[in-house]
Amino acid sequence: MKILAIAGSNSETSINKFLVSYASSLIENAEVEIVDMNDFEMPIYKHQREAESGVPQEAHDFAAKIDGADVLLISLSEHNGTYSTAFKNVFDWTSRIKDRAVWNQVPMLLMATAPGGRGGLGVLEAAEKRFPLHGGNIVDTFTLPFFNDNFDKSAQKISNEEKDSELKEKIQKISAIESILEK
Ligand SMILES: Cc1cc2nc3c(=O)[nH]c(=O)nc-3n(C[C@H](O)[C@H](O)[C@H](O)COP(=O)(O)O)c2cc1C
Repeated sequence: MKILAIAGSNSETSINKFLVSYASSLIENAEVEIVDMNDFEMPIYKHQREAESGVPQEAHDFAAKIDGADVLLISLSEHNGTYSTAFKNVFDWTSRIKDRAVWNQVPMLLMATAPGGRGGLGVLEAAEKRFPLHGGNIVDTFTLPFFNDNFDKSAQKISNEEKDSELKEKIQKISAIESILEK
């Protein structure tokens, strides 16, 4: 099983990258690739840029990684209640590739975390509403509030037992769906 773990952040110390990396470590016998938005940095979307030069190669690379994955684990950082600019730019450019939907129906666990008590619920809700219009096949969602209290960075795992069990159940669910699809 090929897992693409996507941190929707360009921070070098992204807490969403910590979360999505941990989530990917819970799937056994999987080939995991972890990416973040620094891997697909492009000029800010502009109509004239697209008209003059087309969609940048980085957006095609992002799309190819999605197309090559059996499961997507995504964790989005929340900036002012919604996507980080870095993620939104990659999303916007990728949505301009002709004749394909951004998420291409690949089963997805959609996640968010933040230092505050809502755990990135704003961006999660935005994505939950929007992604299905772009081929998003959201199997489940997960938020981790109070990241600094609930995640042990040195052990690289969720320290809150209840949230850890919840994530493990959701990982189990998405792994099972993928196994059924393989048969
Ligand atoms: C411009 C900006 C806006 C932010 N807005 C929110 C917000 O609306 N809700 C929230 O929970 N955290 C907010 N934060 C805090 C982020 O959740 C925090 O920086 C977190 O580390 C971002 O995730 P990342 O480390 O994976 O990039 C904001 C941070 C910045 C820099």
